[in-house]
Amino acid sequence: MTEIPLDPDDYKPLSTPEVDPWSIELEEIDMAYGPLFRDGKHHEYFKRLRKEDPVHFYEGNPFTGPYWSVTKFKDVMAVDTNHKQFSSEPSIVLIDNLMPDQVVPSFIAMDPPTHDVQRKAVTPAVKPLRLSELDDLIRERTIEVLDGLPIGEPFNWVQRVSIELTTRMLATLFDFPFEDRSKLTFWSDVATTPPIQLGLTPEDRAAHLIECLETFTKLFKERQHEGNESQDFISLLANHDETRDMEAMTMLGNLLLLIIGGNDTTRNSMSGGVWFCHENPGEFAKIKANPDLIPSMVSEIIRYQTPLSYMRRTALEDVELGGKLIKKGEKVAMWYASANRDEEEIERPDEFIVDRPNPRHHIAFGFGIHRCMGNRVAEAQLRIIWEEILNRYDRIEVIGKPEYLSHSFVHGIKDMQVVLHPKG
Ligand code: HEM
Repeated sequence: MTEIPLDPDDYKPLSTPEVDPWSIELEEIDMAYGPLFRDGKHHEYFKRLRKEDPVHFYEGNPFTGPYWSVTKFKDVMAVDTNHKQFSSEPSIVLIDNLMPDQVVPSFIAMDPPTHDVQRKAVTPAVKPLRLSELDDLIRERTIEVLDGLPIGEPFNWVQRVSIELTTRMLATLFDFPFEDRSKLTFWSDVATTPPIQLGLTPEDRAAHLIECLETFTKLFKERQHEGNESQDFISLLANHDETRDMEAMTMLGNLLLLIIGGNDTTRNSMSGGVWFCHENPGEFAKIKANPDLIPSMVSEIIRYQTPLSYMRRTALEDVELGGKLIKKGEKVAMWYASANRDEEEIERPDEFIVDRPNPRHHIAFGFGIHRCMGNRVAEAQLRIIWEEILNRYDRIEVIGKPEYLSHSFVHGIKDMQVVLHPKG
């Protein structure tokens, strides 16, 4: 096996943010290159691929190895709904050998029947009835966070609001000790980010994940008892017939999946929405004039941001797609980030429009058997925060431009300085 450099910045393809996406040779386009997303240049590259090479092969990336990029809405849908030919195992990200010794199994990266059984075990935590019960709590916590913010002076919205609120929500869904809630976000970061980018050694990383495993094992055991009808993720996994005896690493993997799933994604939609409203004052004016549009705006924020840019599948047999032959064993990236801007499927896709006729027509939550389990939770959180924002502020001004992550999987905002302007 070739040795893999641990720092993604060590690699630079010909398709960089500085290059004109329309002038470079098609076969040189590497969509897994993080800086394209950091600088917002991925959209133009995807536009070219959708037009000239919608099912695209690239083999020069030393981290991912050769992979296919599926860029059109209909093709992404076709792959996502075809789990018989496209497997989610062994991994749903393109890099699968960054840390071969520390891969933890979780149901997002499993095929039926195991996937279905484990997913079913935790589904009650996010059922509509439970969510309506959670509504008041989400609102209470949102109000608490917003009321603690400084008025008229700049601060980082990502840290003070997006991270804080999603962490509180996760602590609720896990019934995790509230005072230790920041550990959830920290473990999520440790699990998803190369250690060097967090200033950690591989040994530090292993130590943190072991602490995470120990903490959850303790909670798992404490909650494993007859008559426990609690609907938090840990109690559900600990008491369901099919998951109560899971191996420790599978338990850790599934719990990490639920943390990661609910962490970066909602966080980045909370930040993205503020930026889109700042950039599109006319659209924000529509919301202020008619707050009934908030649910529709929430879907539009999620489409426009697309917090997870892709999911990976692996071909289980030779499959023809868009006139190309994907061979058995090859990796396929379903680019939601591109499908959600496909001009053949979505009208004026590059515009942020809060009153689209069919706002839920996007694929940011995926499709098929792995479709996001937390979509309703995420939408509820976003709806409530926007209702409370409208109650308080005339507008949220973004100072400068948000700083995006250099990441092709999580499309996220690291830092966004804002100033709050209260209602007059
Ligand atoms: C805006 C917010 C969110 C976005 C954009 C998002 C996106 C996604 C996507 C793209 C998938 C994979 C779908 C596929 O392969 O077809 C997924 C799966 C998943 N998400 Fe989310 N997600 C969000 C919020 C959440 C939240 C809040 C939770 C948990 C509370 C969550 C838990 C999960 C889980 C457990 C899976 C795996 C489902 C399975 O494999 O069956 N997500 N999500």
